[in-house]
Amino acid sequence: MKSNYLLLLGMIYCCCVIAADGATDDEDDPLVTTLSPAEEYKNYPYCFRFTWLGPKYNKDSQYKNVTCESLLKKANGIPCFHPLVVTNNSNVPDTEYMWNEYKDKPAQIACRLVRGEVCARFTYRYNGAIENITYMCAKMNVDNESSTTSTCYTEDRSGREIEVCVCESAAGRTPCNRSSTILAQLGQPVVLIALALVQLLTLRALFPCNQ
Ligand SMILES: *[C@@H]1O[C@H](CO)[C@@H](O)[C@H](O)[C@H]1NC(C)=O
Ligand SMILES: *[C@@H]1O[C@H](CO)[C@@H](O)[C@H](O)[C@H]1NC(C)=O
Ligand SMILES: *[C@@H]1O[C@H](CO)[C@@H](O)[C@H](O)[C@H]1NC(C)=O
Ligand SMILES: *[C@@H]1O[C@H](CO)[C@@H](O)[C@H](O)[C@H]1NC(C)=O
Ligand SMILES: *[C@@H]1O[C@H](CO)[C@@H](O)[C@H](O)[C@H]1NC(C)=O
Repeated sequence: MKSNYLLLLGMIYCCCVIAADGATDDEDDPLVTTLSPAEEYKNYPYCFRFTWLGPKYNKDSQYKNVTCESLLKKANGIPCFHPLVVTNNSNVPDTEYMWNEYKDKPAQIACRLVRGEVCARFTYRYNGAIENITYMCAKMNVDNESSTTSTCYTEDRSGREIEVCVCESAAGRTPCNRSSTILAQLGQPVVLIALALVQLLTLRALFPCNQ
């Protein structure tokens, strides 16, 4: 299990990019807390936040100069978060293993789940094969909080499928370590969630440090 996970790329956070023309900044979670970073995961829930570049990339690929900007080429509404993750055997990332490696420095691969947000996972598929996966924290406009625990929606566009799964994490656990998922083939909700997320992404793009 361990071995199919290779590399975290470019630990570049948007705040650091902005800070780069001034003083160099380290990548620690900027929140001031009395807990030692290594203990934070025990007290707060986290969502994974990274993009897996998919089976097109493996350890032999040219991936060092790849960024979200170079991948998306200004396309709107497609989620992408650094770090960009490549697996050496092209398998989907082993999140359990990643969490064990990074839970004492969770800001590198995860975001803290706050009230009003959920963990979201976008999976892009083509003819059933996974192309890439992005994990993130996201605001979701759902009136009914009880309906957000763990749910997937898929949208199918002639062979190209976008699946959005949302869930909530518990403190001290692997993010979203809940087994039950309900698959709903509903057109409308995925559009709504996508819209909410697009809004969020737009806001993040405009105010990258204001998370
Ligand atoms: C992936 O990398 C790990 C450690 O770097 C190595 O042990 C494993 O054999 C690799 N797997 C493949 C399929 O190359
Ligand atoms: C990355 O660099 C390689 C050569 O080093 C080049 O072939 C490739 O197009 C570059 N990719 C991007 C996204 O710039
Ligand atoms: C994921 O794949 C989809 C479909 O090919 C593509 O449009 C999107 O740009 C990809 N996302 C990233 C982050 O590369
Ligand atoms: C919220 O969900 C509960 C149980 O699923 C349902 O009984 C209730 O009517 C829902 N409320 C709204 C406002 O949708
Ligand atoms: C994740 O869930 C599985 C099954 O529910 C459980 O056995 C495992 O201990 C959980 N892992 C963590 C880190 O909570």
